[in-house]
Amino acid sequence: MKISVIGTGYVGLVTGTCFAESGNEVLCMDTDVTKIQKLNNGEIPIYEPGLKELVKRNTEEDRLKFTTEIDAAVKHGLFLFIAVGTPPGEDGSADLKYVLEVARQIGRSMESYKIIVDKSTVPVGTGDKVRNAVREELLKRDLGHLEFDVVSNPEFLKEGNAIDDFMKPDRVVVGCDNVRTAEFMKELYAPFVRTEKPILTMDIRSAEMTKYTANAMLATKISFMNDIANLCELLGADIDNVRKGIGSDSRIGYSFIFPGAGYGGSCFPKDVQALIKTSRENKYSLEILESVENVNQRQKEVMFKKLDKVYSGQLSGKVFAVWGLAFKPNTDDMREAPAVVLIEKILAAGGKVVAYDPEAMGEARRIFGDRIRYAKKSYDALEGADALLVVTEWNEFRRPDFEKIKTMLKRPLIIDGRNIYDPARMKAYSFEYYSIGRKM
Ligand SMILES: NC(=O)c1ccc[n+]([C@@H]2O[C@H](COP(=O)([O-])OP(=O)(O)OC[C@H]3O[C@@H](n4cnc5c(N)ncnc54)[C@H](O)[C@@H]3O)[C@@H](O)[C@H]2O)c1
Repeated sequence: MKISVIGTGYVGLVTGTCFAESGNEVLCMDTDVTKIQKLNNGEIPIYEPGLKELVKRNTEEDRLKFTTEIDAAVKHGLFLFIAVGTPPGEDGSADLKYVLEVARQIGRSMESYKIIVDKSTVPVGTGDKVRNAVREELLKRDLGHLEFDVVSNPEFLKEGNAIDDFMKPDRVVVGCDNVRTAEFMKELYAPFVRTEKPILTMDIRSAEMTKYTANAMLATKISFMNDIANLCELLGADIDNVRKGIGSDSRIGYSFIFPGAGYGGSCFPKDVQALIKTSRENKYSLEILESVENVNQRQKEVMFKKLDKVYSGQLSGKVFAVWGLAFKPNTDDMREAPAVVLIEKILAAGGKVVAYDPEAMGEARRIFGDRIRYAKKSYDALEGADALLVVTEWNEFRRPDFEKIKTMLKRPLIIDGRNIYDPARMKAYSFEYYSIGRKM
């Protein structure tokens, strides 16, 4: 089948590549000229495990192409996937300007029947707005008779595991208002659900709401556990034991109940805020989610508060090694990352930072410029540092040489924002060790 993907970021590039991998002819379009140039030169603008090999194979087989021309993209595909960003506006609502601009461009260029699939995360009712925007442009061209369908097909992939998530999804959600389009979508996704995972067809509004609800639920689990972890510290209980104690209940389960330094990324923070905004606009108060958001803001400051307490507020002139900058492992994405909050707070308190991340150093340079120092390797960051702060649980940080760390640091202090080290082991090495919700 012929597919165009408009917006070639994390979601668009993975979507286009995976559809090409299953034999479709895919054209990915983006307005970012540098990004498309890189892709045409065989470079991948983001870090995502396994993506490079797939892009290479499919471009070599001529199934995957890249362009900056919207007209070419609209003409190429029967399916036009919209995968542009929906960043938060100033009031927290999802900014639809990119999605609606694409819809208008589609209306300006299309000359035959199209299935316009919204893959971006968008508020309930966006499907109607997309339809109206396309229709308005067609009417301007006296092409009001041209048929098209609008589908909501939210994406649930996780950065860092995106290829696997797309190739083997737990479910595919398809929101549309007629059976024929649903059948087209089922055919398109059939290669990805061979293990009997469901393709759930529903109305467009429910599909749009499903995506926000999924992210809101996951964010709620994280904030809930972080809240309980903080209380554990005050009560002398250990969140690790509590986590195991509740996770073994099949109604609760173990996934997404690890406490930490707060959630970040391009999705949870903005989607939680957007859903809160939607509820307020409808004169309803989503009280649980308001708290989820507040708890997360507070949690992003927990590591700094621990550090500040250890040094009794005297951070000026001290140098801190920060391991992990991306909002989670296996990505270079630093959007809303807890590390950014921590580093900004250290700098504001007069401290210095030497940072290391296996993939996010380029992103970090863009954010902090020369306000911090950058280490080439994890241990280089410890050279001359007063203490070590672990913010992202990359695998390479899990089993370090603790003797080496101890000799390199001025003070044997580790603050572990992801609970990756064993407190008993830290004690045996005579570290001053602080984690989230656990006993030293
Ligand atoms: N990143 C994730 O893990 C993830 C997961 C699920 C859903 N989503 C949702 O998918 C959407 C895209 O997210 P992302 O992380 O891929 O964003 P991104 O910022 O990585 O990519 C968006 C791309 O769209 C391009 N763009 C903007 N306007 C354009 C236009 N008019 N025409 C063509 N291209 C245009 C940008 O240049 C950019 O490359 C968002 O709504 C997001 O919430 C993201």
